[in-house]
Amino acid sequence: MVFPVRRMRRARIKAIQPILRQTRITHEDLVVPLFVDHNLKKASPIASMPGQFRYPISEMGAIAEEIRDSGLRAVLLFGIPKHKDERATGAYEENGVVQEAIRSVKRAVPEMVVITDVCACEYTDHGHCGIIGKTRRGIDLLNDPSLELMDRIAVSHAEAGADIVAPSCMLDGMVSSLRSALDGAGSSETLIMSYSTKFASAFYGPFREAADSGYSFGDRTSYQINPANRREAFLESELDAGEGADILMVKPAGFYLDVLAEIATLGLPVAAYQVSGEYAMIKAAAERGWIREKEAILESLICIKRAGADIIISYFARDVAGWLVEEQ
Ligand code: PBG
Repeated sequence: MVFPVRRMRRARIKAIQPILRQTRITHEDLVVPLFVDHNLKKASPIASMPGQFRYPISEMGAIAEEIRDSGLRAVLLFGIPKHKDERATGAYEENGVVQEAIRSVKRAVPEMVVITDVCACEYTDHGHCGIIGKTRRGIDLLNDPSLELMDRIAVSHAEAGADIVAPSCMLDGMVSSLRSALDGAGSSETLIMSYSTKFASAFYGPFREAADSGYSFGDRTSYQINPANRREAFLESELDAGEGADILMVKPAGFYLDVLAEIATLGLPVAAYQVSGEYAMIKAAAERGWIREKEAILESLICIKRAGADIIISYFARDVAGWLVEEQ
């Protein structure tokens, strides 16, 4: 028997492993998604996402302080408005839910990086991500009229103090339209983190309850990408890079690591969004004792980072912040 010269297990002893570790999650990697509800007076649990809450605006300052104290630096805000209508007018009101939440967070923790989801699905009565109307294919999301709506939403977020706006509706020309609207409104310092490669995914299921953004007809396959299409997924991010996006995004994260790795070659920072369904699956299996929660969460995040993510948006961020030092 010829003995191997290369013994890989030599490097796997406990004392050596930490110094050879190739990927680490840090506090700076993580973004905390938060749901803010204009109709609430106190926090309300989200049944489809155990451990997650909708918060009233009045609690946002305290939440921001707690997040800062845990070592995290960035939040992503979603709003549930007082009223919904066909044209999502509640999304760009000066005193709308997200606009107020931005001000509360910034008042409490000025250095917190505030990112806002720019989309209409929480604000439309039909639940689609922009303006709908008749097309040759039937009722569908209208691209260019929806762009104008996104411009108004993003400008109102920037004016309320958002550092980064994150358009999530997968419209064509979305980033260049937003960039010129922001620049025209004097917000040239505001970054655009585009949900540049966003798939039409079943894993957004639990979010629909969290953000009250379920749709009343159809689906989102006329604007989000077919999960089967890798080259199309790359092209979508490449186009947004060309239109001036500051940060690209792949969403969902865990099932799309091949796509994430390819998009990271474009050279721009890349965010990965570990979505509500990825969160709920780990939670549900852990609740039944089928997997160990902490290990599964850390593994899921390490793998996303290993594939090339610079930023990870995760509902686990606040849990993980407390574990980081001891676990790695
Ligand atoms: C759109 C938006 C969605 C999510 C983030 N932004 C829903 C959708 O596109 O249908 C999903 C996030 C998640 O599932 O965690 N505003």
